[in-house]
Amino acid sequence: VNCCQCDGLEEEFDRVKAASDLERYRSTGPDNSTQVLLDALKDEDVQGMSLLDIGGGVGVVQLELLKADVKTATSVEASNSYTSAAREEAERQGYSDHIRYEFGNFVDLAEGIPKADIVTLDRVICCYKDIKALVGLSAARASKLYGVVYPRDYWLEKARAAIENIFHWLRGEQYRVYVHSSTTVDALIRGAGLNRRSYRQTSSWQIVVYGR
Ligand SMILES: C[S@@+](CC[C@H](N)C(=O)[O-])C[C@H]1O[C@@H](n2cnc3c(N)ncnc32)[C@H](O)[C@@H]1O
Repeated sequence: VNCCQCDGLEEEFDRVKAASDLERYRSTGPDNSTQVLLDALKDEDVQGMSLLDIGGGVGVVQLELLKADVKTATSVEASNSYTSAAREEAERQGYSDHIRYEFGNFVDLAEGIPKADIVTLDRVICCYKDIKALVGLSAARASKLYGVVYPRDYWLEKARAAIENIFHWLRGEQYRVYVHSSTTVDALIRGAGLNRRSYRQTSSWQIVVYGR
């Protein structure tokens, strides 16, 4: 992956972060907002479905949905370090035969990625500038369900993002965090023919499941 295309994702989501995320998952399970997404998807009865998990990090959504009887998963992840950590964990848990790994920017790879019953982007929309491409192309790949976790777009999250971005800039990093407009994200998803099924919030995140 060319870092210029991916706004410094490889640099930001490096081996140290991947190891720390994996350690946290092994000791305490899915993070709160991820668990909320998993619960919302399981409410839809996902048994036998296929999953496309974009920006899945160490693979928590893939593994937890496979445990809920999702049949197969495809991971598209722009960080090599996270892809390696996800493979390692899937192997450890005995699910590696059920997961196909694609390494790269989903926006670049989208045309070659088959549709799946469920598409998930857990805390990924906030890492990518061009949401028209990321959300539009990914929503078009969801045959049944589309689940997203992304920041609530109110002043506190915007202030947090602005401060975080100052530090990225000071360190000379390309990576930026984005608090995209909820109205824009929602319109892009609806524009792909999906309707909202459930909406939940934590203090920082909105967790939304759409369906066809
Ligand atoms: C904040 S992490 C979230 C990881 C995991 N989903 C979670 O919630 O713990 C964002 C991940 O999305 C990946 N990512 C961001 N934009 C992407 C894109 N366009 N294509 C593929 N992966 C992407 C990054 O490499 C990173 O691993």
